[in-house]
Amino acid sequence: MNCAEQLVQIFGSQAEVARAFRLDRAVVNNWVKSGYVPARWAMEVERVTDGKVAAVEILNEAATKKPVKVKSRADDFGADNGSHTMNSFAPSKRISSFHPPQRTLMGPGPTEIHPRVLTTMSQPAIGYLDPVFVDMMEELKSLLRYVYQTKNALTFPASGPGSVGMEYCFVNMVAPGDKVIVCRNGVFGGRMIENVERAGGVAVVVEAPWGEPIDPNLLEDAIKANRDARIVAFVHAETSTGVQSDAKTLVALAHQYDMLTIVDAVTSLSGTPVLVDEWNIDAIYSGSQKCLSCTPGLSPVSFSERVVEHVKARKDKIHSWFMDMNLLLGYWGATTRTYHHTAPTNSLFGLHEALLLIREEGLEDCWARHYRHHVALKAGVEAMGLEFLVKEAYRLPQMNAIKIPEVLQPKEAAIRKQLLNDFNLEIGAGLGPLAGKIWRIGIMGYSARPENVMLCLSALGSALDDVGFPVHVGDAEAAAHGAYAQMHAKAAQAKQKKKAA
Ligand SMILES: Cc1ncc(COP(=O)(O)O)c(C=O)c1O
Repeated sequence: MNCAEQLVQIFGSQAEVARAFRLDRAVVNNWVKSGYVPARWAMEVERVTDGKVAAVEILNEAATKKPVKVKSRADDFGADNGSHTMNSFAPSKRISSFHPPQRTLMGPGPTEIHPRVLTTMSQPAIGYLDPVFVDMMEELKSLLRYVYQTKNALTFPASGPGSVGMEYCFVNMVAPGDKVIVCRNGVFGGRMIENVERAGGVAVVVEAPWGEPIDPNLLEDAIKANRDARIVAFVHAETSTGVQSDAKTLVALAHQYDMLTIVDAVTSLSGTPVLVDEWNIDAIYSGSQKCLSCTPGLSPVSFSERVVEHVKARKDKIHSWFMDMNLLLGYWGATTRTYHHTAPTNSLFGLHEALLLIREEGLEDCWARHYRHHVALKAGVEAMGLEFLVKEAYRLPQMNAIKIPEVLQPKEAAIRKQLLNDFNLEIGAGLGPLAGKIWRIGIMGYSARPENVMLCLSALGSALDDVGFPVHVGDAEAAAHGAYAQMHAKAAQAKQKKKAA
């Protein structure tokens, strides 16, 4: 029985197959008549049939029925068909162009990408030393200074994900033997410790329980006990728990003892205030794929003059050629540019557009949007009887950690799978000690939209109802609508007051 016939058997009739795949009946009839299902349907068939018809079966059958037509004119050019030799290295399965499904991304990142950013990224490539590109780089740096709220000259996107930004800071600032105080209250503080040790430094760790912010008193104790340490490092927004630490206080404390600071703003930048100059942050890095809502793979960094001096004063050679700040300055720092590495041009076009979108919206409005949708989500989540992991005072609006009730914990992965399969909705799982205990719902960047919040509440409510958790379908949505209505009324009142004044 071929795959098309199998589908008819599974669903009962051609009409039911058409309904399951939301297709015209004529299309299904054509599958049956031609005796195969086109390869592009492979993944969808596997999903809709719950694996009863495997994607690979569709692909193999389609490859036999309708082999790929190679357009090369080998014969005309006298090739002696060496293709057999070449083909022995070819993939064993037939590969078609990749078409990802349309998902709603509400995990801890990456987020959905604004259509304007995607369109910009698909523009023709130009060289990374093209004068037009160089002008764009200058704009990009000025837009980054805006979102970071800094005048730091050395502000640019490092080529690579957030982890590269992190490593960039440690590799440049930590010499072998240096002592660094690292605050850890989740996964990413742990990565900072790794970075210190790999740079040959010694990490002194200030711990806080997962789900709590860093306690400034504990940091001060550690500083007093380690007066030879030169750097304090911490994560502003801990993505693994949804906690925000008080960056302003922690940085001020470090400066009181004449220390430099490294701040991770991967999840905080543009979702919640990050004021580099006002808070006197020395080195900071972020990621393009969170609240900046760009494609993953770029890490905006910013360094104060103090850091530049500190790095220049190092007697030893920086242990990474690629990340050596002194070398990279020739490309990102100066106005006359020299080759350092091939910059990811189209990704940078995208970041330029993503930052422009924030500039057009206004940074404060961007923070406010993240908060507004958090309030609506919170109203809905609480109406379902679920609780937040993190206390309101230091909860991140863009990264919501929701406690999974004990009865649901054995089913948590199945629930996430159902959200993905039935609603095309991705939410995140817990990490480390919180694995299986929390869900992480991100409302970041372009994903911070009312339709996403409402879909998330409906989908989660439906999945919980399916597993017998006592939720009243519709209550969460009503609570979220109520929260939105209250916020809109308040905003309208404030606008009127402003107008009258
Ligand atoms: C707080 C934090 N720091 C660092 C990283 C690492 O970023 P990337 O995955 O882009 O390398 C992440 C990623 O989620 C993060 O959330």
